[in-house]
Amino acid sequence: MRIDSQSQISLEDVPVTVLAESYGTPVYVYEENRIRENFRRADAAFRKHYPDFRFFYAIKCCNNLAIANILRQEGAGIDAASVNEILLAKELGLGGEHVMFSGNFLSDDDIRQGLESGVIFNLDDASLLPRVLKHGKPEVLSFRINPGYGKSSLGDFVTNAGPKAKFGVHPDHVLAAYKAAKEAGITRFGAHMMPGSCMIEPEYFELITGLLMDIVGRVGRELGITFEFVDLGGGLGIPYRHGEPALDLDETAKRIAGVFRKKVAEYGLTPPRLMMEPARYFVGDAGYLIGRVHTIKDSYTRIIGTDVGMNTLARPAMYGAYHHIYVNGREHEARQPVGLCGQICENTDYWVKERPLPAGTAIGDLVVIENAGAYGYTMSYQYNGRLRPAEVLVNGARHWLIRERETFQDLIRTVRVPEHLRPAAG
Ligand SMILES: Cc1ncc(COP(=O)(O)O)c(C=O)c1O
Repeated sequence: MRIDSQSQISLEDVPVTVLAESYGTPVYVYEENRIRENFRRADAAFRKHYPDFRFFYAIKCCNNLAIANILRQEGAGIDAASVNEILLAKELGLGGEHVMFSGNFLSDDDIRQGLESGVIFNLDDASLLPRVLKHGKPEVLSFRINPGYGKSSLGDFVTNAGPKAKFGVHPDHVLAAYKAAKEAGITRFGAHMMPGSCMIEPEYFELITGLLMDIVGRVGRELGITFEFVDLGGGLGIPYRHGEPALDLDETAKRIAGVFRKKVAEYGLTPPRLMMEPARYFVGDAGYLIGRVHTIKDSYTRIIGTDVGMNTLARPAMYGAYHHIYVNGREHEARQPVGLCGQICENTDYWVKERPLPAGTAIGDLVVIENAGAYGYTMSYQYNGRLRPAEVLVNGARHWLIRERETFQDLIRTVRVPEHLRPAAG
């Protein structure tokens, strides 16, 4: 993103005014070069400290195939949370050991289709194993382990391990889970965890790696299992508030690799491949949501009404998450505390209650919401009959529509009205 001396905002080299005129608002816009830079920076840091390293991209955070193809070109595999995400990976030409299926609380149908797809099966509970074996034997099996501790900068909302989390195999059940899998004739194994999201403290990553490796080490030693890979999940954080520190990637990778090597030696393991499956770190700060101001109300306070609401960007209403907001052409102006909302009939859509925004903000202005690339579009929905926005990719001065804005037809496409309920013709 660039802001010129007149406060005109461009994403890569494309002014947001051009993007809004070309594609309408609200519109998600992703900077291709930023995604590539994010991936390369992270990949270089981890490979430097542990050369047998690979990133998978957790496609749930932004599942547009154009975006996922950028990460595939850079060398990422795919972490899939559902059968449909395995199918998205297939659209990228990825399958087998390039895709990991980490669904949770699976149905028999999920299990059958997951198994048929031939990707790495990552089980969220030991109780799933007999159900999987009814359908066949996965070539490579791992368990998602709850190492007993998790943390997130968003609090309990995305703390995905520890006693309050629904995810992962309880640490006391892990040994029995792998034992049962070995006895069933499975020969190729990995281990996985995903304890938290948006973390920036290198000590946190060191701690969770040690916790997981103590579990993996004991299983390896007691069962004579060779772990082909250990996947530490995602969780690499980005700053959302201006002034927040960024993740120190080199220090994080160094600490992870340090404790990983130490535990591998301590338990006498064959060194496994080290994997991570971040999402936010790759695309979070590469994505922006452009909206327009449509109404301004002076009530108990001034409320700026835009077409960016909880339906287009759910994170503020869902998690109380913060997103920085720019007003195009006015960033140099004096500020005044105002509210800002979307157009949904819920007061949770009043997602900014008091924020110093440019005092002259007026109807027709464009607002640009920062850090909207991850868990933005994929969490959008059609409440109040509002339609999902378009998605656009920019690279230098070029831009492409990568997902069409929904139309009214999309709202009713899957609906069937029984004959006796239909209005009389004419
Ligand atoms: C299993 C799994 N892996 C990876 C991720 C990506 O997390 P993040 O965006 O924090 O890197 C998630 C996110 O929820 C997840 O559930």
